[in-house]
Amino acid sequence: FAVLADCFHCPVKGEFEFNIDWLLLIDHQGNIAATYPPQHPEYADLLAAFKRNDSLQVIPKGEYLLPGLVDLHCHAPQWPQAGKGLDLPLYDWLQNYTFPLENRYSDNDFAANVYQDVTKTLLANGTTSAVYFASIHRQSTELLAQTCLNVGQRAFVGKVNMDNSDQCPAYYCEPSVTQAIDDTELFVNNVFELAGNQSRLVHPVITPRFVPSCTSELLQQLGGLVQRYDLHMQTHCSESDWARDYSIQHYGVSDVTIYADMGLLNNKSILAHSIFLNQADIEKINQFKAGIGHCPLSNMYFANAAMPARELLDHGVQIGLGSDIAGAPSPSIFRASFDAVSHSRVREEGVDIYLPASERGTANARISFVEAFWMATVGGGQVLDAKVGLFEQGYHFDAIVIKANSGIGNLRIWPQFDSAKDILEKIITLAQPENVAKVWVQGKAVI
Ligand code: GUN
Ligand code: FE
Repeated sequence: FAVLADCFHCPVKGEFEFNIDWLLLIDHQGNIAATYPPQHPEYADLLAAFKRNDSLQVIPKGEYLLPGLVDLHCHAPQWPQAGKGLDLPLYDWLQNYTFPLENRYSDNDFAANVYQDVTKTLLANGTTSAVYFASIHRQSTELLAQTCLNVGQRAFVGKVNMDNSDQCPAYYCEPSVTQAIDDTELFVNNVFELAGNQSRLVHPVITPRFVPSCTSELLQQLGGLVQRYDLHMQTHCSESDWARDYSIQHYGVSDVTIYADMGLLNNKSILAHSIFLNQADIEKINQFKAGIGHCPLSNMYFANAAMPARELLDHGVQIGLGSDIAGAPSPSIFRASFDAVSHSRVREEGVDIYLPASERGTANARISFVEAFWMATVGGGQVLDAKVGLFEQGYHFDAIVIKANSGIGNLRIWPQFDSAKDILEKIITLAQPENVAKVWVQGKAVI
Protein backbone atom coordinates (compact mmCIF):
# COMPACT_ATOMS: atom_id res chain seq x y z
CA PHE A 1 0.00 0.00 0.00
CA ALA A 2 0.96 3.65 -0.08
CA VAL A 3 0.56 6.51 2.39
CA LEU A 4 0.10 10.15 1.34
CA ALA A 5 0.96 12.49 4.18
CA ASP A 6 2.62 15.59 5.54
CA CYS A 7 5.51 14.06 7.46
CA PHE A 8 8.16 15.09 9.95
CA HIS A 9 11.42 13.22 10.51
CA CYS A 10 15.06 13.96 11.34
CA PRO A 11 17.56 12.46 8.89
CA VAL A 12 20.29 14.73 10.28
CA LYS A 13 20.89 15.07 14.03
CA GLY A 14 19.76 18.52 15.15
CA GLU A 15 17.69 19.18 12.01
CA PHE A 16 14.24 18.19 10.84
CA GLU A 17 12.46 17.81 7.53
CA PHE A 18 8.80 18.63 6.97
CA ASN A 19 7.80 16.89 3.76
CA ILE A 20 4.43 17.98 2.42
CA ASP A 21 2.33 15.50 0.42
CA TRP A 22 4.97 12.82 0.32
CA LEU A 23 4.06 9.42 -0.97
CA LEU A 24 5.50 6.47 0.97
CA LEU A 25 5.37 3.01 -0.61
CA ILE A 26 5.16 0.13 1.84
CA ASP A 27 6.06 -3.39 0.72
CA HIS A 28 4.42 -6.68 1.73
CA GLN A 29 6.89 -7.16 4.61
CA GLY A 30 5.92 -3.78 6.09
CA ASN A 31 9.14 -2.04 5.08
CA ILE A 32 9.44 1.27 3.24
CA ALA A 33 10.07 0.44 -0.41
CA ALA A 34 10.43 4.04 -1.62
CA THR A 35 9.52 7.65 -0.82
CA TYR A 36 8.38 10.16 -3.44
CA PRO A 37 8.16 13.95 -3.18
CA PRO A 38 5.45 15.61 -5.30
CA GLN A 39 8.09 16.89 -7.77
CA HIS A 40 9.14 13.34 -8.68
CA PRO A 41 8.35 12.48 -12.33
CA GLU A 42 6.56 9.22 -11.39
CA TYR A 43 4.60 10.77 -8.51
CA ALA A 44 1.33 11.50 -10.30
CA ASP A 45 1.14 8.10 -12.01
CA LEU A 46 1.93 6.22 -8.81
CA LEU A 47 -0.63 8.21 -6.86
CA ALA A 48 -3.30 7.48 -9.47
CA ALA A 49 -2.42 3.77 -9.55
CA PHE A 50 -2.63 3.32 -5.77
CA LYS A 51 -5.93 5.24 -5.72
CA ARG A 52 -7.33 3.00 -8.45
CA ASN A 53 -6.36 -0.12 -6.49
CA ASP A 54 -7.92 1.29 -3.38
CA SER A 55 -4.60 0.88 -1.58
CA LEU A 56 -3.83 4.52 -0.81
CA GLN A 57 -4.10 5.83 2.76
CA VAL A 58 -4.56 9.58 2.67
CA ILE A 59 -3.69 11.36 5.91
CA PRO A 60 -5.94 14.44 6.04
CA LYS A 61 -4.51 17.96 6.30
CA GLY A 62 -4.06 18.99 9.93
CA GLU A 63 -2.77 15.50 10.71
CA TYR A 64 0.92 14.66 10.66
CA LEU A 65 2.86 11.47 10.03
CA LEU A 66 5.82 10.95 12.38
CA PRO A 67 8.16 8.00 12.88
CA GLY A 68 6.97 5.84 15.79
CA LEU A 69 8.63 6.64 19.10
CA VAL A 70 11.28 4.42 20.70
CA ASP A 71 11.22 3.79 24.47
CA LEU A 72 14.65 2.41 25.41
CA HIS A 73 13.86 1.73 29.05
CA CYS A 74 10.55 0.65 30.54
CA HIS A 75 9.95 -1.68 33.51
CA ALA A 76 6.72 -3.36 32.37
CA PRO A 77 5.92 -5.00 35.74
CA GLN A 78 6.24 -1.65 37.52
CA TRP A 79 3.28 -0.18 35.61
CA PRO A 80 0.92 -0.58 38.61
CA GLN A 81 3.47 1.38 40.64
CA ALA A 82 3.60 4.40 38.30
CA GLY A 83 3.20 7.58 40.33
CA LYS A 84 3.99 6.01 43.71
CA GLY A 85 6.76 6.78 46.17
CA LEU A 86 8.85 9.00 43.92
CA ASP A 87 9.79 11.17 46.88
CA LEU A 88 11.91 8.30 48.24
CA PRO A 89 15.58 7.63 47.45
CA LEU A 90 16.26 4.78 44.98
CA TYR A 91 17.28 2.15 47.53
CA ASP A 92 14.15 2.64 49.68
CA TRP A 93 11.91 2.86 46.62
CA LEU A 94 13.25 -0.46 45.31
CA GLN A 95 12.99 -2.25 48.65
CA ASN A 96 9.60 -0.87 49.72
CA TYR A 97 7.69 -0.71 46.43
CA THR A 98 9.44 -2.32 43.49
CA PHE A 99 10.71 -5.67 44.71
CA PRO A 100 7.43 -6.66 46.45
CA LEU A 101 5.51 -5.73 43.28
CA GLU A 102 7.87 -7.44 40.82
CA ASN A 103 7.74 -10.58 42.95
CA ARG A 104 4.03 -10.91 42.12
CA TYR A 105 4.90 -11.83 38.55
CA SER A 106 5.33 -15.45 39.57
CA ASP A 107 1.55 -15.32 39.03
CA ASN A 108 0.94 -15.52 35.27
CA ASP A 109 -2.67 -14.30 35.51
CA PHE A 110 -1.63 -11.16 37.35
CA ALA A 111 1.16 -10.66 34.80
CA ALA A 112 -1.13 -11.20 31.79
CA ASN A 113 -3.42 -8.38 32.92
CA VAL A 114 -0.70 -5.84 33.54
CA TYR A 115 1.30 -6.73 30.43
CA GLN A 116 -1.72 -6.36 28.18
CA ASP A 117 -2.41 -2.93 29.65
CA VAL A 118 1.13 -1.56 29.62
CA THR A 119 1.93 -2.61 26.03
CA LYS A 120 -1.35 -1.14 24.77
CA THR A 121 -0.81 2.04 26.76
CA LEU A 122 2.63 2.57 25.27
CA LEU A 123 1.25 2.01 21.76
CA ALA A 124 -1.54 4.49 22.47
CA ASN A 125 1.16 7.02 23.39
CA GLY A 126 2.90 6.45 20.06
CA THR A 127 5.65 4.08 21.21
CA THR A 128 6.15 1.58 18.40
CA SER A 129 9.41 0.10 19.75
CA ALA A 130 9.82 -0.63 23.45
CA VAL A 131 12.66 -2.09 25.45
CA TYR A 132 11.27 -3.84 28.49
CA PHE A 133 12.76 -5.01 31.75
CA ALA A 134 10.38 -7.68 33.05
CA SER A 135 10.92 -9.53 36.36
CA ILE A 136 13.07 -12.51 37.37
CA HIS A 137 10.29 -14.91 36.30
CA ARG A 138 10.91 -16.68 33.01
CA GLN A 139 7.35 -17.76 32.30
CA SER A 140 5.62 -14.44 32.76
CA THR A 141 8.45 -12.70 30.89
CA GLU A 142 7.75 -15.00 27.93
CA LEU A 143 4.13 -13.96 28.34
CA LEU A 144 5.22 -10.33 27.97
CA ALA A 145 7.03 -11.22 24.72
CA GLN A 146 3.91 -13.01 23.48
CA THR A 147 1.74 -10.03 24.47
CA CYS A 148 3.94 -7.68 22.43
CA LEU A 149 3.48 -9.98 19.42
CA ASN A 150 -0.28 -10.09 20.03
CA VAL A 151 -0.70 -6.31 20.24
CA GLY A 152 1.77 -5.80 17.39
CA GLN A 153 4.45 -3.80 19.21
CA ARG A 154 8.12 -4.08 18.26
CA ALA A 155 9.73 -5.11 21.51
CA PHE A 156 13.01 -6.01 23.14
CA VAL A 157 12.20 -8.04 26.23
CA GLY A 158 14.46 -9.09 29.10
CA LYS A 159 14.09 -11.53 31.94
CA VAL A 160 15.73 -9.72 34.85
CA ASN A 161 18.78 -11.31 36.48
CA MET A 162 19.68 -10.62 40.12
CA ASP A 163 21.37 -13.09 42.47
CA ASN A 164 23.34 -11.06 45.01
CA SER A 165 21.79 -11.98 48.34
CA ASP A 166 23.58 -9.03 50.03
CA GLN A 167 21.50 -6.58 47.98
CA CYS A 168 18.37 -8.46 46.92
CA PRO A 169 15.65 -9.44 49.37
CA ALA A 170 15.55 -13.20 50.10
CA TYR A 171 12.10 -13.48 48.50
CA TYR A 172 13.22 -11.86 45.23
CA CYS A 173 16.63 -13.27 44.38
CA GLU A 174 17.69 -15.99 41.96
CA PRO A 175 18.92 -19.00 43.95
CA SER A 176 22.11 -19.80 42.02
CA VAL A 177 24.16 -18.72 39.03
CA THR A 178 23.55 -22.04 37.30
CA GLN A 179 19.81 -21.76 37.65
CA ALA A 180 19.79 -18.12 36.54
CA ILE A 181 21.84 -18.88 33.44
CA ASP A 182 19.89 -22.03 32.48
CA ASP A 183 16.64 -20.13 32.87
CA THR A 184 17.92 -17.17 30.85
CA GLU A 185 19.24 -19.34 28.02
CA LEU A 186 15.91 -21.16 27.84
CA PHE A 187 14.15 -17.77 27.78
CA VAL A 188 16.33 -16.60 24.89
CA ASN A 189 15.60 -19.71 22.84
CA ASN A 190 11.89 -19.62 23.61
CA VAL A 191 11.61 -15.98 22.48
CA PHE A 192 13.54 -16.77 19.28
CA GLU A 193 11.02 -19.52 18.64
CA LEU A 194 8.02 -17.25 19.37
CA ALA A 195 9.32 -14.49 17.15
CA GLY A 196 10.58 -16.78 14.41
CA ASN A 197 7.89 -16.40 11.82
CA GLN A 198 6.90 -12.84 12.55
CA SER A 199 9.78 -10.93 10.97
CA ARG A 200 11.55 -10.79 14.32
CA LEU A 201 9.20 -8.26 15.87
CA VAL A 202 10.23 -9.38 19.35
CA HIS A 203 13.79 -9.88 20.56
CA PRO A 204 15.24 -11.34 23.77
CA VAL A 205 17.52 -9.08 25.81
CA ILE A 206 20.07 -10.11 28.44
CA THR A 207 19.14 -8.08 31.52
CA PRO A 208 21.40 -7.93 34.58
CA ARG A 209 19.51 -5.44 36.79
CA PHE A 210 22.62 -3.47 37.73
CA VAL A 211 25.99 -4.16 39.31
CA PRO A 212 24.87 -4.17 42.97
CA SER A 213 22.18 -6.79 42.41
CA CYS A 214 24.43 -9.31 40.59
CA THR A 215 27.40 -11.46 41.61
CA SER A 216 30.47 -11.16 39.41
CA GLU A 217 30.06 -14.82 38.41
CA LEU A 218 26.54 -14.10 37.11
CA LEU A 219 27.68 -11.00 35.17
CA GLN A 220 30.49 -13.01 33.58
CA GLN A 221 28.20 -15.82 32.46
CA LEU A 222 25.56 -13.42 31.15
CA GLY A 223 28.35 -11.81 29.10
CA GLY A 224 29.03 -15.28 27.71
CA LEU A 225 25.41 -15.52 26.53
CA VAL A 226 25.57 -12.06 24.92
CA GLN A 227 28.67 -13.12 22.97
CA ARG A 228 27.50 -16.62 22.05
CA TYR A 229 24.09 -15.54 20.70
CA ASP A 230 25.02 -11.95 19.69
CA LEU A 231 22.23 -10.54 21.85
CA HIS A 232 20.96 -7.17 22.96
CA MET A 233 21.84 -6.34 26.57
CA GLN A 234 20.20 -3.81 28.89
CA THR A 235 21.11 -2.70 32.37
CA HIS A 236 21.20 0.34 34.65
CA CYS A 237 24.48 2.23 34.43
CA SER A 238 25.90 5.01 36.64
CA GLU A 239 22.40 6.10 37.58
CA SER A 240 23.20 7.41 41.05
CA ASP A 241 26.20 8.21 43.21
CA TRP A 242 25.29 5.23 45.32
CA ALA A 243 25.22 2.76 42.41
CA ARG A 244 28.41 4.15 40.92
CA ASP A 245 30.26 4.11 44.26
CA TYR A 246 29.17 0.52 44.78
CA SER A 247 30.99 -0.56 41.61
CA ILE A 248 34.13 1.35 42.51
CA GLN A 249 34.17 0.00 46.08
CA HIS A 250 33.58 -3.63 45.09
CA TYR A 251 35.50 -3.86 41.79
CA GLY A 252 37.84 -0.87 41.84
CA VAL A 253 36.42 0.37 38.49
CA SER A 254 33.26 2.01 37.15
CA ASP A 255 30.23 0.00 36.10
CA VAL A 256 30.90 0.75 32.41
CA THR A 257 34.29 -0.97 32.76
CA ILE A 258 32.75 -3.88 34.63
CA TYR A 259 30.13 -4.40 31.90
CA ALA A 260 32.84 -4.18 29.22
CA ASP A 261 35.16 -6.60 31.03
CA MET A 262 32.36 -9.11 31.52
CA GLY A 263 31.64 -9.23 27.77
CA LEU A 264 28.28 -7.53 28.18
CA LEU A 265 28.83 -4.61 25.78
CA ASN A 266 28.26 -4.61 22.05
CA ASN A 267 26.77 -2.32 19.37
CA LYS A 268 23.22 -2.89 20.61
CA SER A 269 23.65 -2.65 24.37
CA ILE A 270 21.33 -0.26 26.17
CA LEU A 271 22.81 1.46 29.21
CA ALA A 272 19.90 3.10 31.00
CA HIS A 273 20.60 6.47 32.68
CA SER A 274 24.42 6.65 32.45
CA ILE A 275 24.56 10.14 33.83
CA PHE A 276 27.67 10.08 36.07
CA LEU A 277 30.11 9.03 33.34
CA ASN A 278 33.72 10.19 33.16
CA GLN A 279 35.68 10.68 29.94
CA ALA A 280 37.10 7.14 30.01
CA ASP A 281 33.58 5.69 30.37
CA ILE A 282 32.34 7.74 27.40
CA GLU A 283 35.23 6.55 25.26
CA LYS A 284 34.60 2.95 26.25
CA ILE A 285 30.90 3.22 25.37
CA ASN A 286 31.84 4.68 21.98
CA GLN A 287 34.50 2.03 21.42
CA PHE A 288 31.82 -0.69 21.72
CA LYS A 289 29.22 1.48 19.90
CA ALA A 290 26.96 0.81 22.88
CA GLY A 291 24.09 3.22 23.55
CA ILE A 292 22.48 5.20 26.34
CA GLY A 293 18.82 5.21 27.31
CA HIS A 294 18.33 8.73 28.65
CA CYS A 295 15.50 8.86 31.22
CA PRO A 296 15.38 12.52 32.23
CA LEU A 297 12.62 12.64 34.79
CA SER A 298 13.69 9.60 36.80
CA ASN A 299 17.19 11.13 36.96
CA MET A 300 15.59 14.01 38.88
CA TYR A 301 14.22 11.60 41.44
CA PHE A 302 16.96 8.99 41.77
CA ALA A 303 20.14 10.73 40.64
CA ASN A 304 19.31 14.14 42.07
CA ALA A 305 21.03 15.39 38.96
CA ALA A 306 20.47 16.18 35.29
CA MET A 307 22.18 14.34 32.47
CA PRO A 308 24.81 16.22 30.45
CA ALA A 309 22.89 15.45 27.27
CA ARG A 310 24.53 18.27 25.30
CA GLU A 311 28.01 16.93 25.96
CA LEU A 312 27.07 13.31 25.18
CA LEU A 313 25.38 14.28 21.90
CA ASP A 314 28.46 16.32 20.96
CA HIS A 315 30.73 13.35 21.75
CA GLY A 316 28.74 11.30 19.24
CA VAL A 317 27.51 8.83 21.86
CA GLN A 318 24.52 6.85 20.61
CA ILE A 319 21.65 8.08 22.74
CA GLY A 320 17.87 7.63 22.80
CA LEU A 321 15.13 8.21 25.35
CA GLY A 322 13.38 6.05 27.94
CA SER A 323 10.29 6.44 30.08
CA ASP A 324 11.79 4.41 32.97
CA ILE A 325 8.30 3.44 34.08
CA ALA A 326 7.95 3.54 37.08
CA GLY A 327 11.03 5.55 38.08
CA ALA A 328 9.11 8.34 36.33
CA PRO A 329 5.34 8.21 36.03
CA SER A 330 4.68 8.99 32.36
CA PRO A 331 4.56 6.32 29.63
CA SER A 332 5.00 8.99 26.93
CA ILE A 333 8.22 9.45 25.00
CA PHE A 334 6.94 12.88 23.94
CA ARG A 335 7.01 13.66 27.65
CA ALA A 336 10.57 12.27 27.94
CA SER A 337 11.57 14.52 25.00
CA PHE A 338 10.02 17.52 26.72
CA ASP A 339 11.80 16.68 29.99
CA ALA A 340 15.13 16.19 28.19
CA VAL A 341 14.90 19.77 26.91
CA SER A 342 13.75 21.19 30.26
CA HIS A 343 16.56 19.53 32.18
CA SER A 344 19.18 20.72 29.73
CA ARG A 345 17.81 24.24 30.23
CA VAL A 346 18.06 23.82 33.99
CA ARG A 347 21.73 22.86 33.58
CA GLU A 348 22.40 25.85 31.37
CA GLU A 349 20.66 28.41 33.54
CA GLY A 350 21.57 26.91 36.92
CA VAL A 351 19.02 26.87 39.70
CA ASP A 352 20.96 27.74 42.84
CA ILE A 353 19.62 31.22 43.55
CA TYR A 354 22.22 31.74 46.31
CA LEU A 355 24.93 31.92 43.64
CA PRO A 356 25.36 35.21 41.74
CA ALA A 357 23.74 34.98 38.28
CA SER A 358 27.14 35.05 36.56
CA GLU A 359 28.21 31.87 38.41
CA ARG A 360 25.08 29.85 37.81
CA GLY A 361 24.77 27.05 35.29
CA THR A 362 26.89 25.51 32.53
CA ALA A 363 27.29 27.53 29.33
CA ASN A 364 25.70 26.09 26.17
CA ALA A 365 24.27 23.03 27.95
CA ARG A 366 20.84 23.21 26.32
CA ILE A 367 19.53 20.83 23.70
CA SER A 368 16.77 21.68 21.22
CA PHE A 369 13.35 20.09 20.81
CA VAL A 370 14.49 18.83 17.43
CA GLU A 371 17.47 17.10 19.06
CA ALA A 372 15.15 15.57 21.65
CA PHE A 373 12.85 14.33 18.88
CA TRP A 374 15.88 12.94 17.03
CA MET A 375 16.75 10.96 20.19
CA ALA A 376 13.13 9.76 20.51
CA THR A 377 13.22 8.34 16.96
CA VAL A 378 16.52 8.03 15.08
CA GLY A 379 18.71 7.90 18.20
CA GLY A 380 16.65 5.11 19.74
CA GLY A 381 16.80 3.14 16.49
CA GLN A 382 20.58 3.51 16.35
CA VAL A 383 20.98 2.29 19.94
CA LEU A 384 18.93 -0.80 19.09
CA ASP A 385 20.71 -1.35 15.78
CA ALA A 386 17.21 -1.45 14.25
CA LYS A 387 15.92 0.16 11.05
CA VAL A 388 13.40 2.42 12.78
CA GLY A 389 13.01 6.16 13.30
CA LEU A 390 13.15 7.46 9.72
CA PHE A 391 11.02 7.49 6.58
CA GLU A 392 13.65 6.13 4.23
CA GLN A 393 13.88 3.18 1.92
CA GLY A 394 14.71 -0.03 3.78
CA TYR A 395 13.39 1.20 7.13
CA HIS A 396 10.51 -0.59 8.83
CA PHE A 397 7.25 1.30 8.43
CA ASP A 398 6.73 2.14 12.13
CA ALA A 399 4.74 5.36 12.16
CA ILE A 400 2.15 7.41 14.00
CA VAL A 401 -0.39 9.99 12.93
CA ILE A 402 -0.82 13.00 15.20
CA LYS A 403 -4.11 14.83 14.93
CA ALA A 404 -4.32 18.40 16.18
CA ASN A 405 -7.40 20.54 16.85
CA SER A 406 -9.47 17.43 17.46
CA GLY A 407 -11.60 18.97 20.18
CA ILE A 408 -10.02 16.76 22.84
CA GLY A 409 -6.61 17.12 24.38
CA ASN A 410 -4.56 20.31 24.41
CA LEU A 411 -2.87 20.30 21.02
CA ARG A 412 -3.91 23.35 18.97
CA ILE A 413 -2.30 24.42 15.72
CA TRP A 414 -2.93 27.70 13.94
CA PRO A 415 -1.81 27.07 10.35
CA GLN A 416 -1.86 30.84 9.64
CA PHE A 417 1.03 31.54 12.00
CA ASP A 418 2.54 28.25 13.21
CA SER A 419 5.67 27.37 11.22
CA ALA A 420 6.64 23.74 10.60
CA LYS A 421 9.08 23.98 13.51
CA ASP A 422 6.33 25.42 15.73
CA ILE A 423 4.07 22.51 14.80
CA LEU A 424 6.74 19.92 15.64
CA GLU A 425 7.49 21.61 18.97
CA LYS A 426 3.79 21.76 19.81
CA ILE A 427 3.40 18.07 19.02
CA ILE A 428 6.34 17.17 21.28
CA THR A 429 5.15 19.33 24.15
CA LEU A 430 1.36 18.93 23.92
CA ALA A 431 0.44 15.66 22.19
CA GLN A 432 -1.50 13.19 24.33
CA PRO A 433 -2.87 9.73 23.51
CA GLU A 434 -6.06 11.53 22.36
CA ASN A 435 -4.00 13.01 19.52
CA VAL A 436 -2.45 9.70 18.41
CA ALA A 437 -4.94 8.90 15.67
CA LYS A 438 -3.17 5.97 14.07
CA VAL A 439 -0.20 3.69 14.76
CA TRP A 440 1.56 1.30 12.38
CA VAL A 441 4.24 -1.21 13.34
CA GLN A 442 6.03 -3.07 10.54
CA GLY A 443 3.38 -1.81 8.13
CA LYS A 444 0.52 -3.16 10.21
CA ALA A 445 -2.10 -0.81 11.66
CA VAL A 446 -2.24 -1.56 15.39
CA ILE A 447 -4.34 1.46 16.46
N1 GUN B 1 18.12 0.46 39.56
C1 GUN B 1 17.97 -0.84 39.81
N2 GUN B 1 16.71 -1.24 39.62
C2 GUN B 1 16.03 -0.16 39.24
C3 GUN B 1 14.68 0.07 38.88
O1 GUN B 1 13.83 -0.82 38.88
N3 GUN B 1 14.35 1.33 38.51
C4 GUN B 1 15.26 2.33 38.48
N4 GUN B 1 14.89 3.54 38.09
N5 GUN B 1 16.53 2.16 38.83
C5 GUN B 1 16.91 0.92 39.20
FE1 FE C 1 15.07 1.66 35.37
